[in-house]
Amino acid sequence: MSEILSVRGAKKSYGAVVALRGADLSVTWGEVHAICGDNGAGKSTFIKLISGVETADEGEIAVKGAVSRFSNPREALAAGIATIHQDLGLAPRMSIYQNVFMGSELERRRFGIKVLDRKAMIEEARGYLGQLNSTLEDMTAPVENLSGGQRQAVAICRALRWKAEIIIMDEPTAALGVRETEQVLKLIRTLRSNGVTVILISHNMKDVVAVADRVTIFSGGRSVESHSTDGLDADALSHLIITSATT
Ligand SMILES: Nc1ncnc2c1ncn2[C@@H]1O[C@H](COP(=O)(O)OP(=O)(O)OP(=O)(O)O)[C@@H](O)[C@H]1O
Ligand SMILES: [Mg+2]
Repeated sequence: MSEILSVRGAKKSYGAVVALRGADLSVTWGEVHAICGDNGAGKSTFIKLISGVETADEGEIAVKGAVSRFSNPREALAAGIATIHQDLGLAPRMSIYQNVFMGSELERRRFGIKVLDRKAMIEEARGYLGQLNSTLEDMTAPVENLSGGQRQAVAICRALRWKAEIIIMDEPTAALGVRETEQVLKLIRTLRSNGVTVILISHNMKDVVAVADRVTIFSGGRSVESHSTDGLDADALSHLIITSATT
C-alpha cells in the first residue's frame, strides 16, 4: 500500500459560509506533500479535518487504509497524525525538554512515590533533536531564548515524541528570515529521510518547489489539481495557482 492518507469529497460549512465544497488528497508514504492555493481556498479548514480540530460535514478520511473519523486532536494523534500550527503551541517560559514532553511527562518511582524523570526526559529530548541534526545542546534552555527555526525544531520533537508518522505543518516558514527558513527546510528533509510523511501548507512557492515531492492546489474550497514538483519552478507553480483559480 503506497497511500498513507486519503481524503475523498471533504465538505465543511460554517453556517452560511462554505469553506470546503469537495476536496480530495492522496498522500504517499514518506513524501513531502504541499498544499497551496489563495487566501480563503480552504487549506486550513482541510487540515483541521485531518487533525481532528473540526469534523467534516461530508467525505471520507482513510489513514493507512482504515477509514477514520476524528472528534478531537488526540484521536488524530493516536492514528499517527500530529499538526504543528503556525503559533507552534509552545510554552515560551518553559524549557526545551518540558515543551517536548508537555502532557506526556516521563515518571519514575522514588521511595515508592511517582516523580518526574527529568534526566530521562532531557536525554530523550536530546535524542529527538539529534534525529533532526539540531545543534541545540542545553535541553533546559527556555524556548523564549530560541530562534524561530529552533522553536520549529522543538515543535517537531514534540510530534516525534508522539510517534507521529504524518506531521502537518501550517506555514512553518511564514515568519522566518532567510537562514531560519533554510533551517526549517532542512528539518523537513531530515524528517523525510527518517521516513516521516510531511504535509506542508505554504504560500512560499520557492519553499514548496525546494522541499516538496508533490503539490495539491486548492481553489474556492476544492482541490483542483495535483502535480509532481519534478521540473517545476516557483514561477511555474505560481502560474498554476493563478490559472487554477480562474478556471
Ligand atoms: N470558523 C470559521 N467560521 C466562519 N468561516 C470560516 C471559518 N473558518 C474558515 N472560514 C471561511 O472558510 C473559507 C476558507 O478558509 P480557510 O481558512 O480554510 O482558508 P485558507 O486556504 O487556509 O486561507 P489562508 O491562505 O488565508 O490561510 C474562508 O472563506 C473563511 O473565511
Ligand atoms: Mg490558512
